[in-house]
Amino acid sequence: MRFRTLVIALLAICLLTSMGWSKTETELPTAVVTKREMVVTANPLATEAGAHILKIGGTAADAMVAVQTVLGLVEPQSSGLGGGAFIVYYDAKTGKTTTLDAREKAPATATEDRFLDDAGDSIGFSNAWQSGLSVGVPGTPRMMEYMHDRYGKLPWQRLFVPAKRLAQKGFELTERTSSQIAELLDRNPGCGDDERLFFRDPTAFEYFVDTDTCEAKPAGTLMRNKAYARTLRALARKGADAFYYGPIARDIADAVQGDLNIPGDMTEEDLANYEVVEREPVCIDYMGYDVCGMGPPSSGGLAVGQILGIIENRDDLMGSNPLDADTVHLFSQAGRLAFADRNKYVADSDFVSVPVAGMLDPDYLADRAAFITGTDMGTALPGYPPDMIASYAPDTRAKLSGTSHVSIIDRYGNALSMTTTIESSFGNGVMVRGFLLNNELTDFSFDFEDADGIPIANRVEPNKRPRSSMSPSIVFDDDGNVELVTGSPGGSRIIGYTAQSIMNVIHFGLDPQEAINIPHYQNRNSYTELETPIPGVTLDYDAEALAEQLRDEYEYSDVRTGAMTSGLSSIQVVESDDEKPGKGHGKGRKHFKTILVGGADHRRDGTVGGR
Ligand code: GLY
Repeated sequence: MRFRTLVIALLAICLLTSMGWSKTETELPTAVVTKREMVVTANPLATEAGAHILKIGGTAADAMVAVQTVLGLVEPQSSGLGGGAFIVYYDAKTGKTTTLDAREKAPATATEDRFLDDAGDSIGFSNAWQSGLSVGVPGTPRMMEYMHDRYGKLPWQRLFVPAKRLAQKGFELTERTSSQIAELLDRNPGCGDDERLFFRDPTAFEYFVDTDTCEAKPAGTLMRNKAYARTLRALARKGADAFYYGPIARDIADAVQGDLNIPGDMTEEDLANYEVVEREPVCIDYMGYDVCGMGPPSSGGLAVGQILGIIENRDDLMGSNPLDADTVHLFSQAGRLAFADRNKYVADSDFVSVPVAGMLDPDYLADRAAFITGTDMGTALPGYPPDMIASYAPDTRAKLSGTSHVSIIDRYGNALSMTTTIESSFGNGVMVRGFLLNNELTDFSFDFEDADGIPIANRVEPNKRPRSSMSPSIVFDDDGNVELVTGSPGGSRIIGYTAQSIMNVIHFGLDPQEAINIPHYQNRNSYTELETPIPGVTLDYDAEALAEQLRDEYEYSDVRTGAMTSGLSSIQVVESDDEKPGKGHGKGRKHFKTILVGGADHRRDGTVGGR
């Protein structure tokens, strides 16, 4: 059993500050500590709802339902009933870890040329995004019911109370949501019925925009969403079937088929046929810990696992702290190698053969790690994992997304890591019965083959789920106890954010909040990115000087500095310094007292709750 206490983390921070970092720890967000249960989300109202459910005896699955229904209301740009999610779940009773795939899927009539015009050229991302073609069959309502049926304790209807109350009484629009509406209006100028492309649906337009000025509703506006309250009431009374059959399903199909930009093809039958899929987690040994994540159709678990496996293989190149140029170099090179494999091999494994075991094979990762030298390798080529049986052309698109991450540990020792999404900010911009529709199908490759006719694994196919980068993760210690629950939004940057947060905790001994406060860096097998520090949110460091150092000493030709807006939500289980025996979190810890240490991301509106 591994003793990982706050004292170690504090010592690590003393070490780091003594290495020339100018910002003192007191100016940055600090970790929250609780004894029994904890929930971390990207919004204070969602955290409050989850903490309340845990307090009245609810499980992590119960709290997740309350959190998800509130997030769909108060952070509607990121996730909701009209989207999909992935969950990694540890069940304390059985000691088993499972994953739930509630990814949106393509309609039964989808074809591989979905996003191509008559000449075979791409219709363009913006055009596809803001259309009925991009909407996948949502998985979130079915996922909530599935988790509650198996792992819930409180009555289903009870879990909808916080969101229903907020939807009816109103809540204040956040600065973050208001500025994201403004950003979309800037990108899509025009206010008249015929001019609007993004909020082309009048319901969404009137809900989010001041129709007199054509500007985003300001932060602090009292938002009421009675249609959403009615949808929640139907779900609470009749379960997920209320969403997948009958009037709600009909309205979704009508909205998709009647899209004012490009009509889509989703039918009521597609909705009625939707099922969540329970899948084996993909796990890798990293420094004696078991890091478990989501397998295909997400690339998250495999890519996070590859990055960690590769950096562990090259400890000789690892720096002495997370912002040391050696560390940044090693992590970036590992990112290049992981993204080369991800782009080529990962897609929905119900449709294509993904070499899951081979991609995490220790010998394979050692061979891949051997490509790393003291200088930038440039664009990495994909490898040949041992169990590879089909070769594909790469799908290299990297995008931003509207996504949110939720981490929960309950008093019973269950742990839940969920990344939930409607894809782009505000999904496809169309609102049905109080929730936004996703544009998840733009996560498919728009091309179905390369110039030589080699098929792309992530091409559109009927009923297929598009490749994701979402990386909900649970890390276990060498006794099988939950050590860390983490994950983040951020499009394909999710992979780097999550891998870095795990490295910061496991390798550098930081607590989850300190790990989040470290500025980000990564490479998705193109340019190298360094996060510009944010006063009071991230540790201060000289990003431009580090970029120069990478160019001069490590021969990087393309290093860019800028914002990297992660939304990490992390919980670490720590053995208490309190000697008294007690019941802890996880089956192997019955005789040890544990505490929960939580970190939320202040790059968004993250908060930690619990007691
Ligand atoms: N829509 C974000 C992702 O699935 O990666």
